[in-house]
Amino acid sequence: MHRHVVITGASSGIGAACARHFQKAGDRLSLGARRSDRLPGVAAGAFHHALDVTKPASVERFVAAAIAANGPIDILVNNAGLARGVEKIAEGTGEAWREMIETNVLGLLEVTRRVLPHMLAASKGHVVVIGSIAGHKAYVGGGVYCGSKRALQPICEAIRMETLGSGIRVTSVDPGLCETEFSVVRFRGDQERAGKVYQDTRPLTADDVAECVLFAVDRPPHVNLDTIVVMPTDQATPQMVHRGGR
Ligand SMILES: NC(=O)c1ccc[n+]([C@@H]2O[C@H](COP(=O)([O-])OP(=O)(O)OC[C@H]3O[C@@H](n4cnc5c(N)ncnc54)[C@H](OP(=O)(O)O)[C@@H]3O)[C@@H](O)[C@H]2O)c1
Repeated sequence: MHRHVVITGASSGIGAACARHFQKAGDRLSLGARRSDRLPGVAAGAFHHALDVTKPASVERFVAAAIAANGPIDILVNNAGLARGVEKIAEGTGEAWREMIETNVLGLLEVTRRVLPHMLAASKGHVVVIGSIAGHKAYVGGGVYCGSKRALQPICEAIRMETLGSGIRVTSVDPGLCETEFSVVRFRGDQERAGKVYQDTRPLTADDVAECVLFAVDRPPHVNLDTIVVMPTDQATPQMVHRGGR
């Protein structure tokens, strides 16, 4: 198929898994992340470039370099994202809130707005957003992270409306508990605390989520999967997780 697939936040977790799966499918990749030194190890031979989605100049350089290296973009996987802390709103710090909103919402917009005009000109393209079940249901200590993921829903809806008739597809893949570096980042390197999130339960793997992304983009062009909500069998809501055996 040899599609040009751009993946943000490809240095770890779900983004890296998507890179591996698309590479296996024979697609051309453009991978971005702040830790760009990790990217050659994710998908050997793939084009990679430093990217900080919170910095418009970095996004500008990344998108231009991706197009120069691999041509028109067929698929954009907006994956870069993070959570910081589990403070209640009354205890929160503006710094963590800004980082989440600047990365998860504004960063995604900065990338998408630079890619969409090319897709509109080509009358095709697929924008994939990695949302979260946090965007469907809030939880104590997750207000701002949940808000940043909920914000992606009207953004996806508006893009569908604004590109209607162009052939562009928009899919949100919204995972539940998935074992990646997510919790290590959330708890600022506290491995022990991060490990507890996945303790005595069977979370999704990054590969499980990547398979959902591949499934969505592999549908025929007239089929648009709007939202895929995928959780471990042992999870019912963000905070209701079965731990221990059966
Ligand atoms: N794990 C879960 O349970 C879970 C559940 C639902 C949704 N999600 C979502 O899945 C997505 C991927 O997370 P993950 O679980 O794979 O976590 P992860 O292993 O921590 O990966 C996050 C990726 O985002 C990148 N990133 C963060 N800030 C960035 C920035 N400013 N510019 C560019 N890249 C940036 C990181 O790269 P650098 O640090 O190298 O820049 C990294 O590659 C996120 O949007 C997350 O919200 C995760």
